[in-house]
Order: sequence, then structure tokens, then C-alpha cells
Amino acid sequence: MNILITGGTKGIGLATAIALSRSDVNRILIIGRDSIALKKAAGEAAPGKIIPLCFDLSGLRNDDGVLLKMVSDIFTGLDVLINNAGVLITGDFDKISMDDARQMTEINFIVPAVLIRELLPLMRQGSHIINISSMGGFQGAQKFRGLSFYSASKAALACLTECLAVELEERKISVNCLAPGSVDTEMFRQAFPGYRANLNTETIADFISWFAVNGKKYYNGKILPLSTSTP
Ligand SMILES: NC(=O)c1ccc[n+]([C@@H]2O[C@H](COP(=O)([O-])OP(=O)(O)OC[C@H]3O[C@@H](n4cnc5c(N)ncnc54)[C@H](OP(=O)(O)O)[C@@H]3O)[C@@H](O)[C@H]2O)c1
Repeated sequence: MNILITGGTKGIGLATAIALSRSDVNRILIIGRDSIALKKAAGEAAPGKIIPLCFDLSGLRNDDGVLLKMVSDIFTGLDVLINNAGVLITGDFDKISMDDARQMTEINFIVPAVLIRELLPLMRQGSHIINISSMGGFQGAQKFRGLSFYSASKAALACLTECLAVELEERKISVNCLAPGSVDTEMFRQAFPGYRANLNTETIADFISWFAVNGKKYYNGKILPLSTSTP
């Protein structure tokens, strides 16, 4: 399978790329900005299994074909797209800078949407798009102070999933959304110093990698909470 994961340099994305690389049939293209981490990630699997692409997704303002060209130089078709790259900056609603608020909206919601539009020509019949949202953006889940823009951007991504599942059904492309609770990554540790996360990256990566390949048999247009606790 040809798989693209955004944000594959660390945390959940890196662990998922490594988990997926254990199958002989998978090739995984990972996108991130940190060229050293990208190179290191590629070295975690047999040569050619994890393919690094250094690209700042904040530059993806239009579906103008630039990224499509880069990806289609590597893959002739795409079976799985995992929109995992994300940004979390904490701050009360009336105190957080609008630059930070816009950055979260951009990377967590607009970029996955543009990326899907950009890569649709490569998505094969039977392919699967997985959007990584958050319990913070899951309707009805407990909300936490300082996460209003982050959670709202993740809720938008979750809603986009439901909408796209309808629009892409004709093309036989499935779209689902996973909403993790807390996972022990740099993002979590920076945002919540001193708190212990529910899951480690290997555990969640085992599930995401299984879901990426098999989830479309059971779900389409669904937003699934990935948390062992409530909240
Ligand atoms: N950890 C949690 O508790 C938790 C809970 C719920 C949801 N999530 C979601 O899960 C996803 C992964 O989170 P994580 O905890 O693994 O975070 P992380 O360790 O901070 O990793 C974030 C990834 O996103 C990439 N990224 C960020 N901005 C980018 C940009 N402009 N261009 C390209 N890549 C960019 C980073 O790559 P570079 O630094 O190389 O650019 C990195 O690989 C995020 O969407 C997050 O919101 C996490």
C-alpha cells in the first residue's frame, strides 16, 4: 500500500509510520519540516520503506499542484492518507494571540482540507483518508480551559470528515476521523507539564496502523474517540 502521513517526524505520526513499515506491502511517505528527524525516521525501517519529504505544510495555501507533483514523483497512486500533523498552543480565548489562533486553525483544519483536495487525483478507488482530530474537538466530551482554538479547529476537522465521506462516496474513497485523548508526545508534554498521558505512542500507533488498513471495512464518515478514560 502507498501511504502518506503528515507529521511523521515525531510523536504519533512517527510511531505510526514505523508500525506500518513492518508490513512488506507498505511504503510510507512522511512529511515534516525537521530534515534531521526525517532522515532518522527513514533509517527506522528497511531502505525505501519510509520515504521522507521535507515540506512546511503552512505553505500549503492553495491546491495549486505543487505538493501533488512532489507526491506523484514518488507514488503513482495513494491508498491511505493520514492527516496527522497538528499544532497545539494553549492560551485563554481572550489572551491567546490571533497569530497563534490562526496557526492552529490553519495547520489543524485548513491544511488537511487543502491536502485532501490536492491529492484527490492520486487517491485510488478503495483508498482511505484518516483525519487525526482530538477528544478536545469531540462533541460532548469534557472541554479544558486554554484549548478553545485548538479544540474548535479539531472539531472542524471532525465535521469535515463527515461531509467528505458523503462527497467522496461516489469515488469509493472512505474518510474517517480518530480523536485521541492524551498521548505521551512532545506536544502533550509541552502543553500539560506534569500530567501523565493515558497512552504511549506505540500503543496508539498499533491501533492507527491497523485502522488505516482495515477501518474502511467497518466505518465511513465516523468520528471515533480513542481514549481509555472519560475525559
Ligand atoms: N499527543 C496527544 O495527546 C494528542 C491528543 C489528541 C490529538 N493529538 C493530535 O495528534 C497529532 C499528532 O500529535 P503529536 O502529539 O504526535 O504531536 P507532535 O509530537 O508535536 O508532532 C507533530 C507533528 O506535526 C508536524 N508538523 C507540525 N507543523 C507542521 C508543518 N507546518 N509542516 C509540516 N509538519 C508539521 C511535526 O513535524 P515537524 O516538527 O518536523 O514539522 C510533527 O511531526 C496532532 O494532530 C495532534 O493534534 C495529539
